Amino acid sequence: PEAVVTFFRADRPLILAHRGASRIAPENTLAAFRLALEQGADGLELDVQLSRDGVPVVFHDSELSRTTDGRGRISEKTLAELRTLDAGKWFDPRFAGERIPTLEEVFEAFGDRALYNIELKAFGVRDDGLVRAVVACVRRYGLVHRTLLSSFNPLTLRRAWRLAPEIPRGLLVDLDLPLPLRRAWLAFLVPHQARHLSFRMIDERTVSWCRRRGLAVVAWTVNDLQEAERLIRLRVDALITDDPALLVRLLGAQ
Ligand code: G3P
Ligand code: CA
Repeated sequence: PEAVVTFFRADRPLILAHRGASRIAPENTLAAFRLALEQGADGLELDVQLSRDGVPVVFHDSELSRTTDGRGRISEKTLAELRTLDAGKWFDPRFAGERIPTLEEVFEAFGDRALYNIELKAFGVRDDGLVRAVVACVRRYGLVHRTLLSSFNPLTLRRAWRLAPEIPRGLLVDLDLPLPLRRAWLAFLVPHQARHLSFRMIDERTVSWCRRRGLAVVAWTVNDLQEAERLIRLRVDALITDDPALLVRLLGAQ
């Protein structure tokens, strides 16, 4: 059966922490996710890719060097090798000892206390293993109704739809994509329930364009108070932010 979307709320936009509370903690670590939920985020946005031995791990870049003490491509390392790396101290010595988490570990740690926007980082076209592994993990933890899969790659999202139509999907769109890739035919080729738009693309026209097609609107990455106020007035369905505390305060004050 097609996805029934219970992810969003009718009364206010969701606050999704971009790679966790990544303004104050190292991105995509358990520490960043824990802090985001403590600050009141509804859910976590996290990037997932496969280790060389096929384990879904939470990591943004294709290279290890920016956010760990390792070198080389993540896809060329086994999980055992990745486990030896420090993913926290580059950000602040206080976070030394943070590891690259597996998706399973994140689900173990937070279970149904969070919503999960899992971005499928398929850098090439060989994304079959990634989609399969993520879908299996979501199902195993019973988190189908708390998960929204997303990708910039329509073919990856299409694969997710074919494998697991019951898990909702959001298509990521950025300004630098050519216009035809941002338009309606994608919804036919790749059925999805949400558009994840760079916040700079979102105005009244875009929102009503999405509404007419029954698509939820997710704005990324919103770290500015005035921008957030503008998007809340436009009634977007979710805000992805590095600073969940800021948006929790803002929504609380409204
Ligand atoms: O989901 C929005 C955002 O995460 C996409 O860009 O590079 O932060 O993964 P990036
Ligand atoms: Ca992402």
